[in-house]
Amino acid sequence: MSLSLLLLLLLLATARTSRLHGAVLTYYPINDTADGYTAMVLRYKLTYNPCSERDVWVCLSEDCGYLSSYALNPVDQNSSAAWCQREGIQIRWFLSNNPFMIESFGGHWRSTKNAVSYMTMLTSVELRKRSDTGRVNSSPQTNILPELSVPSNCQRDLDLLTFDPDGDEVRCRYGKRSALECVQCIPASVLSLSSSCTLSFNSTIPSNEGTYAVQLVMEDVTRKTITLTQNDGVETTLKADSPIGQSAVDFSFTVAPVVESCTEGLYLPKFLPPTPANRARLSTAVNRSIEISIKAEATISTIYELLFSGPYNTMKTASGEGRYTLRWTPSEDDGDHQPICFVVQAVFKSVQFQSELRCVVVTVGNTQR
Ligand SMILES: *[C@@H]1O[C@H](CO)[C@@H](O)[C@H](O)[C@H]1NC(C)=O
Ligand SMILES: *[C@@H]1O[C@H](CO)[C@@H](O)[C@H](O)[C@H]1NC(C)=O
Ligand SMILES: *[C@@H]1O[C@H](CO)[C@@H](O)[C@H](O)[C@H]1NC(C)=O
Ligand SMILES: *[C@@H]1O[C@H](CO)[C@@H](O)[C@H](O)[C@H]1NC(C)=O
Repeated sequence: MSLSLLLLLLLLATARTSRLHGAVLTYYPINDTADGYTAMVLRYKLTYNPCSERDVWVCLSEDCGYLSSYALNPVDQNSSAAWCQREGIQIRWFLSNNPFMIESFGGHWRSTKNAVSYMTMLTSVELRKRSDTGRVNSSPQTNILPELSVPSNCQRDLDLLTFDPDGDEVRCRYGKRSALECVQCIPASVLSLSSSCTLSFNSTIPSNEGTYAVQLVMEDVTRKTITLTQNDGVETTLKADSPIGQSAVDFSFTVAPVVESCTEGLYLPKFLPPTPANRARLSTAVNRSIEISIKAEATISTIYELLFSGPYNTMKTASGEGRYTLRWTPSEDDGDHQPICFVVQAVFKSVQFQSELRCVVVTVGNTQR
């Protein structure tokens, strides 16, 4: 049976009622410095309406490891509970270290203007040890909010978080159908993507209003020639400028009705200090909680919520209009780096406005591998 037929059968078999709003998948190794079994942690954020959706995974290789632990935990939802994000964490142990490919069948997208209706998320994972780091590769660590929006008359650049734990160069591209990275691989015409992972929205004519599905692949690319070593000692050379891993980044982008002014701080909320800058690097240690203070203002509209995407055990608290705190305490299984993204939302005469997106990466020290 061909892979595309298999894909179609699976999509039919998994026809479900809830609607996908976005998904992000990253992975990192644990216990890969010891001589022995390597484990991969797959972490993914899935956002559906309603929340109940299960995730379905299919191994496209001979061996996708032994699934030693699996959880799907709630992260955050918008205040009307129209969507709900959960974080899946799978720990897979490997006897061999052959590369593997695994695909998730996420069911149906919410209705989108670029006619994308099915969602799949593919990742291929290299398990051989790298000569430059002495470790197994991690995918780029990134994140996004499942729903972003900007008024149709405003310009906006989305600089995605592109942190790579191995020091590789990070590039973005649209998913390819031939590689099974998406089913309907139709880019959002209103966004232009640079290979350095900036998506630019330029003010457009009102007829472009609506919600688009954005399906990206973020790759880590080697900066120099490295060797990959198998458990049995066999070595393979990987040339400079070769993709080695990938993260999937899928989200909904809404072009909203025209706003009177695009100046931040009026209708669109504006971040103020001490809110961390986009792509800021923060650090903490295992069992030590980190607090991210967020402050925003809008003089015409009213700020009513903070939305975030991050590790499931992140706590969100509000302390007055436009003031929020995110608190996260890493455990030993959380790896060395976790990305967290957030936006604030405001409302004026029942029209909603979103701030820019900010993402930070939290580095966890003292991790025992
Ligand atoms: C790491 O692997 C070794 C050898 O395979 C095993 O004995 C050890 O328990 C593993 N460590 C963790 C934290 O799982
Ligand atoms: C929550 O998200 C839904 C779907 O995008 C939207 O219709 C609704 O207005 C949102 N609610 C709030 C309070 O932001
Ligand atoms: C947006 O469009 C304007 C007018 O066509 C152009 O001058 C500007 O360079 C564009 N900006 C981006 C970021 O594409
Ligand atoms: C973190 O806390 C857990 C549970 O209390 C404990 O078992 C573990 O040893 C602690 N790890 C570190 C590095 O402090």
